This record gives sequence, C-alpha cells and structure tokens, in this order.
Amino acid sequence: MKILLIHGPNLNLLGTRETGVYGAETLESINGRCLKLAEELGVELDIHQTNSEGEIVDLVQSAAGTAQGIVINPGAYTHYSYAIRDALAAVKVPAVEVHLSNIHSREEFRHKSVIAPVIAGQIAGFQGDSYILGLRAIVGIINNA
Ligand code: DQA
Repeated sequence: MKILLIHGPNLNLLGTRETGVYGAETLESINGRCLKLAEELGVELDIHQTNSEGEIVDLVQSAAGTAQGIVINPGAYTHYSYAIRDALAAVKVPAVEVHLSNIHSREEFRHKSVIAPVIAGQIAGFQGDSYILGLRAIVGIINNA
C-alpha cells in the first residue's frame, strides 16, 4: 500500500515559521515521524513539499493508479484553490486533509476549506501530530474499504 503525503506552500519553513501557531517542529522531523509510523503500519510513504499550486495538482493527478491514499496539507491553498479541489475530486483516491493549526479558531478567511467537501475528512489543530493522525486515518480508510 502506497500513501502520497503532500506538504503545500511555506511548510518547508516549519521550525522557524510562526512557532506559536505551528509549533517548533521542523518538516524534517515531522517527515521522520511519519516514515517511522508508515514502517510500523507496513505502508510505503511518498513525501513531497512544494510551494507551487500546479505541482500539487500534478502530484494529486499522479496518485491515480499509483497510490491508494493521499494525506495533504494544502497550506493557504486550502482556502481558495479550486484547481487542487478539482484534482482531488477527479482522481478517486481517498484523501485526508491535515493542518497543524486549528484553522477554525483563527482568522475568518481560514475557516473555509474548499478542499474538505471532496475528501474523506479533515484533521486540524494538533501541530505535527495532525500528520500522524492523518496517516492513521487514511490507512484505516483504505483497510476498511
Ligand atoms: C495551515 C493553515 C493554513 O491556513 C496556512 O495558510 C498554512 C498552514 C496549517 O497547517 O495549519 O500555511 O495549512
């Protein structure tokens, strides 16, 4: 079983970026924890970070036929990218949206996810642990399908 993990814009800055909001953990550390869990769960994890919306669309499209599930933190694209939403709706690969921060308790523009209606579910507010929960969730969804 292969899972695609996609980190969107500015998540390469974790560790120094607004640590009061996102926590002090680096992306490298989060990826390391996810890889460890993937090994424990017996799944292959393919990890990507990009700041580009088009690259995220390409990655999501590439999951069709090659991955069984997607875990995605679309960053700010969460709130307005119909292109990423349409790609996720098109590929018929189950996906879980994750956020480090609780987007619902922050600025109004972050309350809306245009992605959430076309995916299995959303996990937000547990900093780096959101990814761990998201990975467990997607594996559960695939195993129960
Ligand atoms: C984020 C929340 C978004 O609103 C923000 O633009 C990000 C990170 C999160 O993980 O909490 O870049 O997706």
